[in-house]
Amino acid sequence: MNQHEAIRHLMKAHRSIRRFKDQTVSQAIIDDLIECAQWAPSSHNVQAYSIICIRNKDTKQKLRTLCGDQSYISECPVFFVFVMDFYRHSVISACQKEAFEINETENMLVGAVDTALVAENFLLAARSYGLGGVMIGGIRNEAEEVAKLLKLPPYTVPIMGMCVGYPDQAPEQKPRLLKPTIYHEEVYQFEGLTDNLSTYNQISEAYYLKRANSKKNTGWIKQMQAYFGKIRRAKLTKFINDQGFSLK
Ligand SMILES: Cc1cc2nc3c(=O)[nH]c(=O)nc-3n(C[C@H](O)[C@H](O)[C@H](O)COP(=O)(O)O)c2cc1C
Repeated sequence: MNQHEAIRHLMKAHRSIRRFKDQTVSQAIIDDLIECAQWAPSSHNVQAYSIICIRNKDTKQKLRTLCGDQSYISECPVFFVFVMDFYRHSVISACQKEAFEINETENMLVGAVDTALVAENFLLAARSYGLGGVMIGGIRNEAEEVAKLLKLPPYTVPIMGMCVGYPDQAPEQKPRLLKPTIYHEEVYQFEGLTDNLSTYNQISEAYYLKRANSKKNTGWIKQMQAYFGKIRRAKLTKFINDQGFSLK
Protein backbone atom coordinates (compact mmCIF):
# COMPACT_ATOMS: atom_id res chain seq x y z
CA MET A 1 0.00 0.00 0.00
CA ASN A 2 1.50 3.36 -0.94
CA GLN A 3 1.28 6.40 1.33
CA HIS A 4 -1.76 7.81 -0.47
CA GLU A 5 -3.68 4.54 -0.12
CA ALA A 6 -2.59 4.14 3.49
CA ILE A 7 -3.98 7.55 4.48
CA ARG A 8 -7.29 6.93 2.71
CA HIS A 9 -7.54 3.46 4.22
CA LEU A 10 -6.99 4.90 7.69
CA MET A 11 -9.81 7.39 7.18
CA LYS A 12 -12.22 4.89 5.69
CA ALA A 13 -11.58 2.20 8.31
CA HIS A 14 -12.79 4.39 11.19
CA ARG A 15 -14.88 2.89 13.95
CA SER A 16 -15.13 3.97 17.57
CA ILE A 17 -13.35 1.63 19.98
CA ARG A 18 -14.74 1.17 23.48
CA ARG A 19 -12.85 -1.89 24.75
CA PHE A 20 -9.10 -1.77 25.33
CA LYS A 21 -6.20 -4.11 26.13
CA ASP A 22 -4.49 -3.68 29.47
CA GLN A 23 -1.47 -2.06 27.81
CA THR A 24 -0.13 1.41 28.49
CA VAL A 25 0.33 4.00 25.77
CA SER A 26 3.88 5.37 25.89
CA GLN A 27 4.48 9.06 26.56
CA ALA A 28 6.59 9.16 23.36
CA ILE A 29 3.52 8.18 21.34
CA ILE A 30 1.33 10.69 23.18
CA ASP A 31 3.88 13.43 22.51
CA ASP A 32 3.72 12.62 18.80
CA LEU A 33 -0.11 12.58 18.85
CA ILE A 34 -0.05 16.06 20.37
CA GLU A 35 2.29 17.26 17.63
CA CYS A 36 0.04 15.77 14.92
CA ALA A 37 -3.01 17.34 16.56
CA GLN A 38 -1.33 20.74 16.69
CA TRP A 39 -0.93 20.76 12.91
CA ALA A 40 -4.69 21.00 12.45
CA PRO A 41 -5.75 24.22 10.73
CA SER A 42 -7.18 26.93 12.98
CA SER A 43 -9.59 29.82 12.35
CA HIS A 44 -7.55 33.04 12.28
CA ASN A 45 -4.82 30.86 13.80
CA VAL A 46 -6.38 31.48 17.23
CA GLN A 47 -5.52 27.88 18.29
CA ALA A 48 -8.31 28.03 20.84
CA TYR A 49 -7.89 24.64 22.50
CA SER A 50 -6.09 22.74 25.21
CA ILE A 51 -5.63 19.00 25.59
CA ILE A 52 -5.56 17.44 29.06
CA CYS A 53 -4.05 13.96 29.41
CA ILE A 54 -5.42 11.88 32.28
CA ARG A 55 -3.89 8.61 33.41
CA ASN A 56 -4.77 8.90 37.11
CA LYS A 57 -7.25 6.12 38.01
CA ASP A 58 -9.16 8.17 40.54
CA THR A 59 -9.64 11.09 38.12
CA LYS A 60 -10.76 8.72 35.34
CA GLN A 61 -13.24 7.10 37.73
CA LYS A 62 -14.66 10.52 38.65
CA LEU A 63 -14.90 11.50 34.98
CA ARG A 64 -16.63 8.21 34.18
CA THR A 65 -19.32 9.08 36.72
CA LEU A 66 -19.64 12.67 35.48
CA CYS A 67 -19.97 11.47 31.86
CA GLY A 68 -23.01 9.27 32.55
CA ASP A 69 -21.16 6.22 33.89
CA GLN A 70 -19.52 5.28 30.60
CA SER A 71 -17.35 2.33 31.73
CA TYR A 72 -14.68 2.71 29.03
CA ILE A 73 -13.57 6.05 30.56
CA SER A 74 -12.15 4.33 33.64
CA GLU A 75 -11.13 1.21 31.70
CA CYS A 76 -9.06 2.89 28.96
CA PRO A 77 -5.34 3.32 29.72
CA VAL A 78 -5.42 7.02 28.98
CA PHE A 79 -8.20 9.58 28.69
CA PHE A 80 -7.97 12.99 27.08
CA VAL A 81 -10.15 16.05 27.47
CA PHE A 82 -10.26 18.48 24.57
CA VAL A 83 -11.07 21.93 25.87
CA MET A 84 -12.12 25.02 23.95
CA ASP A 85 -9.66 27.52 25.39
CA PHE A 86 -9.71 31.32 25.11
CA TYR A 87 -8.04 31.79 28.51
CA ARG A 88 -4.64 32.64 27.05
CA HIS A 89 -6.28 35.16 24.70
CA SER A 90 -7.98 36.81 27.67
CA VAL A 91 -4.61 37.00 29.43
CA ILE A 92 -3.01 38.70 26.40
CA SER A 93 -5.85 41.23 26.18
CA ALA A 94 -5.67 41.97 29.91
CA CYS A 95 -1.88 42.43 29.80
CA GLN A 96 -2.11 44.70 26.78
CA LYS A 97 -5.17 46.49 28.27
CA GLU A 98 -6.98 45.86 24.99
CA ALA A 99 -10.66 44.98 24.40
CA PHE A 100 -11.55 41.29 24.63
CA GLU A 101 -14.63 40.86 22.44
CA ILE A 102 -15.26 37.22 23.15
CA ASN A 103 -19.05 37.33 23.35
CA GLU A 104 -20.18 36.75 19.83
CA THR A 105 -21.59 33.49 18.54
CA GLU A 106 -18.78 33.46 15.98
CA ASN A 107 -16.20 32.84 18.71
CA MET A 108 -18.14 29.86 20.07
CA LEU A 109 -17.99 28.34 16.58
CA VAL A 110 -14.33 29.26 16.11
CA GLY A 111 -13.36 27.63 19.41
CA ALA A 112 -15.53 24.52 19.01
CA VAL A 113 -14.37 23.95 15.42
CA ASP A 114 -10.69 24.41 16.33
CA THR A 115 -11.04 21.95 19.19
CA ALA A 116 -12.87 19.38 17.05
CA LEU A 117 -10.29 19.57 14.25
CA VAL A 118 -7.50 19.01 16.76
CA ALA A 119 -9.35 16.06 18.30
CA GLU A 120 -9.92 14.35 14.95
CA ASN A 121 -6.26 14.86 13.95
CA PHE A 122 -5.32 13.32 17.29
CA LEU A 123 -7.56 10.29 16.81
CA LEU A 124 -6.35 9.67 13.26
CA ALA A 125 -2.73 9.87 14.41
CA ALA A 126 -3.52 7.49 17.30
CA ARG A 127 -5.02 5.01 14.86
CA SER A 128 -1.90 5.17 12.71
CA TYR A 129 -0.08 3.70 15.75
CA GLY A 130 -2.59 0.84 15.98
CA LEU A 131 -4.42 2.58 18.81
CA GLY A 132 -8.18 3.08 18.89
CA GLY A 133 -10.52 5.41 20.66
CA VAL A 134 -13.89 6.99 21.10
CA MET A 135 -14.82 10.61 21.52
CA ILE A 136 -16.89 11.42 24.62
CA GLY A 137 -19.45 14.20 24.37
CA GLY A 138 -20.65 13.07 27.80
CA ILE A 139 -17.89 15.35 29.14
CA ARG A 140 -20.46 18.19 28.74
CA ASN A 141 -23.10 16.43 30.91
CA GLU A 142 -21.73 17.92 34.12
CA ALA A 143 -19.39 20.51 32.64
CA GLU A 144 -19.22 22.54 35.86
CA GLU A 145 -18.02 19.54 37.89
CA VAL A 146 -15.56 18.59 35.14
CA ALA A 147 -14.19 22.15 35.16
CA LYS A 148 -13.69 21.99 38.96
CA LEU A 149 -12.02 18.59 38.79
CA LEU A 150 -9.63 19.64 36.02
CA LYS A 151 -9.11 23.15 37.44
CA LEU A 152 -10.20 24.79 34.19
CA PRO A 153 -9.71 28.58 34.09
CA PRO A 154 -12.24 31.15 32.77
CA TYR A 155 -12.99 31.21 29.05
CA THR A 156 -12.61 27.46 28.72
CA VAL A 157 -15.24 24.80 27.97
CA PRO A 158 -14.67 21.04 27.80
CA ILE A 159 -15.87 20.08 24.32
CA MET A 160 -15.17 16.37 24.22
CA GLY A 161 -13.26 13.63 25.94
CA MET A 162 -11.47 10.76 24.23
CA CYS A 163 -10.71 7.24 25.45
CA VAL A 164 -7.52 5.95 23.85
CA GLY A 165 -5.79 2.57 24.02
CA TYR A 166 -4.94 -0.60 22.13
CA PRO A 167 -8.21 -2.06 20.79
CA ASP A 168 -9.57 -5.25 22.34
CA GLN A 169 -12.48 -5.42 19.92
CA ALA A 170 -12.99 -5.13 16.16
CA PRO A 171 -16.54 -3.83 15.72
CA GLU A 172 -18.20 -3.74 12.36
CA GLN A 173 -18.27 -0.27 10.85
CA LYS A 174 -21.43 1.72 11.42
CA PRO A 175 -23.07 2.55 8.07
CA ARG A 176 -23.10 6.20 7.03
CA LEU A 177 -25.80 8.22 5.26
CA LEU A 178 -26.09 7.63 1.52
CA LYS A 179 -23.92 9.97 -0.49
CA PRO A 180 -26.79 11.84 -2.23
CA THR A 181 -28.12 12.78 1.22
CA ILE A 182 -24.98 14.66 2.17
CA TYR A 183 -23.42 15.61 -1.19
CA HIS A 184 -24.88 18.38 -3.36
CA GLU A 185 -23.67 19.76 -6.66
CA GLU A 186 -23.89 23.51 -7.25
CA VAL A 187 -26.87 24.08 -4.92
CA TYR A 188 -28.57 22.14 -2.16
CA GLN A 189 -30.43 19.14 -3.65
CA PHE A 190 -33.74 18.08 -2.10
CA GLU A 191 -34.69 15.39 -4.60
CA GLY A 192 -34.92 11.83 -3.30
CA LEU A 193 -34.28 12.86 0.29
CA THR A 194 -37.07 10.88 1.96
CA ASP A 195 -36.43 7.78 -0.16
CA ASN A 196 -32.73 7.90 0.58
CA LEU A 197 -33.36 8.35 4.29
CA SER A 198 -35.74 5.43 4.27
CA THR A 199 -33.16 3.23 2.53
CA TYR A 200 -30.52 4.30 5.03
CA ASN A 201 -32.92 3.56 7.86
CA GLN A 202 -33.27 -0.03 6.65
CA ILE A 203 -29.49 -0.37 6.35
CA SER A 204 -28.96 0.94 9.87
CA GLU A 205 -31.75 -1.29 11.28
CA ALA A 206 -30.07 -4.33 9.72
CA TYR A 207 -26.73 -3.20 11.17
CA TYR A 208 -28.09 -2.92 14.70
CA LEU A 209 -29.95 -6.26 14.44
CA LYS A 210 -26.73 -7.99 13.37
CA ARG A 211 -24.47 -6.29 15.90
CA ALA A 212 -23.57 -8.52 18.83
CA ASN A 213 -24.82 -7.24 22.22
CA SER A 214 -26.57 -4.38 20.49
CA LYS A 215 -28.56 -2.25 22.92
CA LYS A 216 -30.43 -0.62 20.03
CA ASN A 217 -33.05 -2.35 17.97
CA THR A 218 -34.19 0.70 16.02
CA GLY A 219 -32.92 2.35 12.87
CA TRP A 220 -31.43 5.80 12.41
CA ILE A 221 -34.74 7.64 11.99
CA LYS A 222 -36.08 6.52 15.39
CA GLN A 223 -32.71 7.28 16.97
CA MET A 224 -32.79 10.82 15.59
CA GLN A 225 -36.37 11.28 16.80
CA ALA A 226 -35.25 10.23 20.27
CA TYR A 227 -32.23 12.54 20.10
CA PHE A 228 -34.10 15.63 18.98
CA GLY A 229 -37.20 14.84 21.05
CA LYS A 230 -35.79 16.33 24.23
CA ILE A 231 -33.43 18.98 25.57
CA ARG A 232 -30.01 17.41 26.12
CA ARG A 233 -27.78 19.61 28.21
CA ALA A 234 -29.89 22.35 29.69
CA LYS A 235 -27.21 23.37 32.22
CA LEU A 236 -24.61 24.09 29.55
CA THR A 237 -25.57 27.70 28.77
CA LYS A 238 -25.30 28.66 32.45
CA PHE A 239 -21.94 26.90 32.75
CA ILE A 240 -20.57 28.64 29.64
CA ASN A 241 -21.73 32.00 30.99
CA ASP A 242 -20.18 31.22 34.39
CA GLN A 243 -16.89 30.61 32.55
CA GLY A 244 -16.91 34.27 31.52
CA PHE A 245 -18.80 34.18 28.25
CA SER A 246 -22.14 35.89 27.79
CA LEU A 247 -24.44 33.67 25.75
CA LYS A 248 -28.08 34.53 25.30
C1 LIG B 1 -18.21 14.84 19.51
C2 LIG B 1 -18.54 13.40 19.71
C3 LIG B 1 -19.00 12.97 20.94
C4 LIG B 1 -19.26 11.61 21.16
N1 LIG B 1 -19.65 11.22 22.40
C5 LIG B 1 -19.78 9.89 22.67
C6 LIG B 1 -20.04 9.45 24.01
O1 LIG B 1 -20.18 10.25 24.95
N2 LIG B 1 -20.13 8.13 24.21
C7 LIG B 1 -19.96 7.20 23.23
O2 LIG B 1 -20.01 6.00 23.51
N3 LIG B 1 -19.71 7.59 21.96
C8 LIG B 1 -19.61 8.91 21.66
N4 LIG B 1 -19.31 9.33 20.39
C9 LIG B 1 -19.10 8.33 19.34
C10 LIG B 1 -20.29 8.27 18.39
O3 LIG B 1 -21.35 7.60 19.02
C11 LIG B 1 -19.85 7.54 17.13
O4 LIG B 1 -18.81 8.25 16.50
C12 LIG B 1 -21.01 7.39 16.13
O5 LIG B 1 -22.03 6.59 16.68
C13 LIG B 1 -20.53 6.72 14.85
O6 LIG B 1 -19.93 5.48 15.13
P1 LIG B 1 -18.41 5.17 14.73
O7 LIG B 1 -17.56 6.26 15.31
O8 LIG B 1 -18.08 3.83 15.33
O9 LIG B 1 -18.35 5.14 13.25
C14 LIG B 1 -19.09 10.68 20.13
C15 LIG B 1 -18.66 11.12 18.88
C16 LIG B 1 -18.39 12.45 18.66
C17 LIG B 1 -17.91 12.91 17.30
